[in-house]
Amino acid sequence: MIKRVLTGITTTGTPHLGNYVGAIRPAIASSRQPGVESFFFLADYHALIKCDEPGRIERSRLEIAATWLACGLDPQRVVFYRQSDIPEVPELTWLLTCVTPKGLMNRAHAYKAATDANEAAAQDIDAGITMGLFSYPILMAADILMFNAHEVPVGRDQVQHIEMARDIAQRFNHLFGHGQAHFVLPAAVVDEQVATLPGLDGRKMSKSYDNTVPLFEGGAKGLQAALAHVVTDSRLPGEPKDPDSAHLVQLFEAFADAGERAAFRAELRAGLGWGEAKQRVGARIERDLAPMRARYAELMAHPERIEQILLDGARKARAIAAPLLAQLREAVGLRRMVAAPTTAAPAAVKAKSAVPVFKQYRESDGLFYFKLMAADGRLLLQSRGFEQGRQAGEWVTRLRNEGAAALVDLPAQRGDGVDAAELAAALSLLAPG
Ligand code: TRP
Repeated sequence: MIKRVLTGITTTGTPHLGNYVGAIRPAIASSRQPGVESFFFLADYHALIKCDEPGRIERSRLEIAATWLACGLDPQRVVFYRQSDIPEVPELTWLLTCVTPKGLMNRAHAYKAATDANEAAAQDIDAGITMGLFSYPILMAADILMFNAHEVPVGRDQVQHIEMARDIAQRFNHLFGHGQAHFVLPAAVVDEQVATLPGLDGRKMSKSYDNTVPLFEGGAKGLQAALAHVVTDSRLPGEPKDPDSAHLVQLFEAFADAGERAAFRAELRAGLGWGEAKQRVGARIERDLAPMRARYAELMAHPERIEQILLDGARKARAIAAPLLAQLREAVGLRRMVAAPTTAAPAAVKAKSAVPVFKQYRESDGLFYFKLMAADGRLLLQSRGFEQGRQAGEWVTRLRNEGAAALVDLPAQRGDGVDAAELAAALSLLAPG
């Protein structure tokens, strides 16, 4: 079975070396494994919760997309898209919101931390808290459930959110599943192997500690200049150093292989000066970063290429999201209003012979077509030609799932003497479930 792995990247800020080692590199490596179907997306609706500066939102989306691509994410292999290009996600968010107990959201760590801080400051407990922050976990649940992800690789701070997504999924399945599960229950995956990279001061590298090393900004020089600020002890050149107590060594080891690690440790024990050691660390990191930085610069100079990649990703994502959402709308009762077929025979019996059929075929003009034939052989609907067979197939899927609602956008015409009501009734016979 193919395992579906999905993760979101909140588009605030600019990625630093800690993000690369702790998130980007392992995620890309795991996306290359066989048997895994990966979905990576820019969580830009989530970014809006934390940031009301349009310019920063725009810039960060671009930088983060360029970074992931430059670091080796293969958009042919991975479904890579922007959350805000998938209108099905906010729609699903609402369906989920309607079944999510408010008490569950009251317990979310991020919301609780904000109310606790307000209480400590003797303010109204909800001061400065938006509904976006409060509902954050529901949007995140929609991100995950929309694609029926089995696994969600996240940092420890996000585990509670995945548990909430499971709770919400379970509740929805229970209320509307009628024995059939709409949603897979996702599992959080926290990678214990991936060490967190220390920052300049030895604490975890994080923007909030202001101790980061840039990933691409400033070039090789900027990297070396940042490393100059790594805190070390005051041993002089020639004095033996303890590799285990120096977080500079951890920075080196996040990039080096076993042989390089042993050699570096031996040099430090033999008295290598810290200044020189920092040069070695910079050179080793730069060896990995240089080719990626070049790709990054190239991409940043061509945002339209990134845009195209993301739009292609959105198309792939929506081909999955739209049919599921159609099924969910149906399940909650948001259904098409169509007259029940008014035949003398009992309407409930979908006699196999009475069901219309889709036929897909290719014409001598090289284009792909489909048509819908009534059980008695009359032509009900004739599509126009499509460049690709897949396009025709996608329309057939939409018509099956959405029925007459899909006709609004469809380049097709009804057969002679077939009216809209007859066509709608025929399509309703094909509806799933
Ligand atoms: N909240 C996540 C974070 O801050 C980002 C995110 C949004 C996410 N939607 C997601 C992660 C869905 C995993 C799955 O890191």
